[in-house]
Amino acid sequence: MAPILAVTDLERAFYSEIYETRETSSERRTPSVSVRGPRAFVSARTAQCKTATGRRRQVRTYAYKSVYGVERIASMTEPALLHLDGPATMNRLDEIRKVYATAFPGNSVEDHQWRTSRQANSPGFETVIAQLDGRIIGFVYGLPLAAGSGWWNGLTPDPGDGFTAETGTRTFAVIDLAVLPDHRGQGLGRRLMDELLRGRHEDRATLATDPAETDNQAMYDRWGWRPAGQVPGGEHETSAAFDLYVIALRSDPDATSSSR
Ligand SMILES: CC(C)(COP(=O)(O)OP(=O)(O)OC[C@H]1O[C@@H](n2cnc3c(N)ncnc32)[C@H](O)[C@@H]1OP(=O)(O)O)[C@@H](O)C(=O)NCCC(=O)NCCS
Repeated sequence: MAPILAVTDLERAFYSEIYETRETSSERRTPSVSVRGPRAFVSARTAQCKTATGRRRQVRTYAYKSVYGVERIASMTEPALLHLDGPATMNRLDEIRKVYATAFPGNSVEDHQWRTSRQANSPGFETVIAQLDGRIIGFVYGLPLAAGSGWWNGLTPDPGDGFTAETGTRTFAVIDLAVLPDHRGQGLGRRLMDELLRGRHEDRATLATDPAETDNQAMYDRWGWRPAGQVPGGEHETSAAFDLYVIALRSDPDATSSSR
């Protein structure tokens, strides 16, 4: 559900207006009814509001009727999704690192800094950040596997000829996906992933999960990713072993097949 923000006087006035509008108009006459997810939105408007700290902010306010029959009003600012190349990622690495440290509390931020600095200098590296009020609240990034990449080294079971052959343009590796806890469960993780992969030109994408992260694995499974096997973890990596996943980005049905 959308986060319900602190209600300012201006927003309160807007809410009353919506309530009045709703009370005097039938569901049929409401012009912008559309059903998205579990809620029926009845109205939406962007307004300038002042936050508790006095900053001006554009707020998109939605009135909706929940499936449970309880009318509620929520106001939220939609996070913007922004693409960053390697140098732009390096410029915002301090902010990204803070989100990383919160999302992966058991991992070393020094190792993350070391890895990401190297990766961001590689051709084709790309990040998508979710930004709200100028603050990064989530990110995903990755890079194409170079010819001769060690990504698949030690893969078991043996996937068969050709599966691990990289050309620099065949496979995009998603390295990290993270959303701050307060913003989870609203589809942002999925949006970040979709936004990153939507513009990629590679045939397929891959990612690595800690074998103990069964919730994440189930999530990737629901998102269409398929297990490709397990590899051992290396120095500066976050797990002793990784379960690798793949997904086809093109219509080519062989993109994730081991017989390619
Ligand atoms: C994984 C992560 C990025 C998901 O972010 P998010 O914004 O919550 O993602 P979404 O809202 O798109 O939800 C993702 C899935 O998790 C499910 N989910 C979200 N919150 C949930 C909760 N509290 N309980 C159960 N399932 C939940 C959603 O139903 C969704 O599944 P679906 O797309 O099949 O419906 C976020 O939880 C995170 O940062 N985790 C810590 C870092 C991490 O583990 N990253 C992945 C490493 S492989």
